[in-house]
Amino acid sequence: MSAPIEIGVDPNGAPITIDVEELLATRLLVQGNSGSGKSHLLRRILEESAGIVQQVVIDPEGDFVTLAEPFGHIVVDGAAYSAEELARLAQRIRKHRASVVLALDELEIEAQMRAAAIFLSALFDAPREEWYPALVVVDEAQMFAPVASGEVSDEARRLSLAAMTNLMCRGRKRGLAGIVATQRLAKLAKNVAAEASNFLMGRTFLDIDMARAADLLGMERRQAEQIRDLARGQFLGLGPAISRRPVAVRIGSVRTGSRGGSHALTPPPSASPDDIHALLHTDLHTDETPIHRPAPPEPEFDADELMERIAAVPLVPEEEEEVIQPQLFTPSRYEIDVAVNAILAEMVAEENCTFQSPATLFQDFSVRCRMQRLTAGHVDMTQFRRRFAMAVAGIFNPEAAEWAEILRVAKPLADDLLAPFLLMARAARDDAPCPDDDELARIYGTNSPGRVRRLIEHYEKAGLIVVRTDFSGRRSVSIPELGLATAPLEV
Ligand SMILES: Nc1ncnc2c1ncn2[C@@H]1O[C@H](COP(=O)(O)OP(=O)(O)OP(=O)(O)O)[C@@H](O)[C@H]1O
Ligand SMILES: [Mg+2]
Repeated sequence: MSAPIEIGVDPNGAPITIDVEELLATRLLVQGNSGSGKSHLLRRILEESAGIVQQVVIDPEGDFVTLAEPFGHIVVDGAAYSAEELARLAQRIRKHRASVVLALDELEIEAQMRAAAIFLSALFDAPREEWYPALVVVDEAQMFAPVASGEVSDEARRLSLAAMTNLMCRGRKRGLAGIVATQRLAKLAKNVAAEASNFLMGRTFLDIDMARAADLLGMERRQAEQIRDLARGQFLGLGPAISRRPVAVRIGSVRTGSRGGSHALTPPPSASPDDIHALLHTDLHTDETPIHRPAPPEPEFDADELMERIAAVPLVPEEEEEVIQPQLFTPSRYEIDVAVNAILAEMVAEENCTFQSPATLFQDFSVRCRMQRLTAGHVDMTQFRRRFAMAVAGIFNPEAAEWAEILRVAKPLADDLLAPFLLMARAARDDAPCPDDDELARIYGTNSPGRVRRLIEHYEKAGLIVVRTDFSGRRSVSIPELGLATAPLEV
């Protein structure tokens, strides 16, 4: 199942889509300086998906209230309600699956944080039978999940950070898909940013934010310079709901304007928003239904400690929690192996795969794992580099007895020197001809014959191989420790 919406076009004018179904499982992080077009991008996503999924917008600037008329979103003015009423509204929003904009522009920053915390926590605490899928969009997320304490009280910060962490780390099983946008990635709490698997990075000036954006996109720092030059409305996208490789996208137009801006299209309201408005607001002041207010996080922990504790919550949900959303399942070791092997096989089948940087390859691997509903945590970067080298040499099941000897001999080799040796060792074991220089160069990820020559010399000096050239100039390689030799290579 998939539900693609078009968000814009790539440099060739081809449409770029986001799969909303996948987004529900894998969340989205948007970063870009002020004016880069984040709010416009969020609006495009909201408008395009309004007809297919419930939406909740936490809107510190009151920008998104214009969604109300054409799309029927209910505007909840955060300043107009007590804490109890806000929580109760959130309960009803879950129950009735209403799309809403929580406008917080009339409030001071501390009150904004408290209101958002109460509201998000009540959404999060909905009873299981109301765990319907919904996009929860938080603009200016660094305000609600700041890295450092600012002018606000510690308590407000703790409440807001805990609510945001719950949304991003544990919201998925409750149907809540966090979409967070920030001007400053470095100012957004790490654990909130880390839970998103999809990224859209817009123009970014500061080195520290650019470096973090580059890390998330799996880009080399030098390559990341392009993030500085992006135009307004241009983003680099990556993730299971967008693309497996970073893609450039120019965000398309929107129907609604931000408040105060132009109101281009405002078709007349339909009847149903009124009904929903009534459902949400009738007898709100006299409603006696008990509210399950979230307990504030234990005060004896400081925020960093709390973040660590929350970060330690396993990514894979507990078995007993029943779910509505597509899930990361809890696979057995065998299932993980099968899936990881299949992913590696796909990756090494791609042309030029050995010419990619390890960081790019690992990012690609992580995204593919996500798409298989696996956490990449099953194989870390170090393990991945070795497994990838083995896969390039055609070894997908390193646990198997048939590879034990070869892998034992290869053990001292660094990751980047592993694959060509394994390829020669395989040929020796199979009595096949020694791989030629082109093949070795390809597998080593180089175009330089000199580098291949030096590599072979290195293996020889390390005593791993002995190269023999017969009278007719045919090369064979023996591996003394295994007592094996390749067949001569016909030239
Ligand atoms: N893809 C686009 N096409 C046309 N106009 C755009 C596009 N993206 C942004 N704009 C316009 O550029 C201006 C700034 O965009 P926007 O408000 O989305 O920036 P922002 O990143 O949210 O900034 P801030 O962090 O200050 O809120 C707006 O007037 C918006 O309409
Ligand atoms: Mg904005």
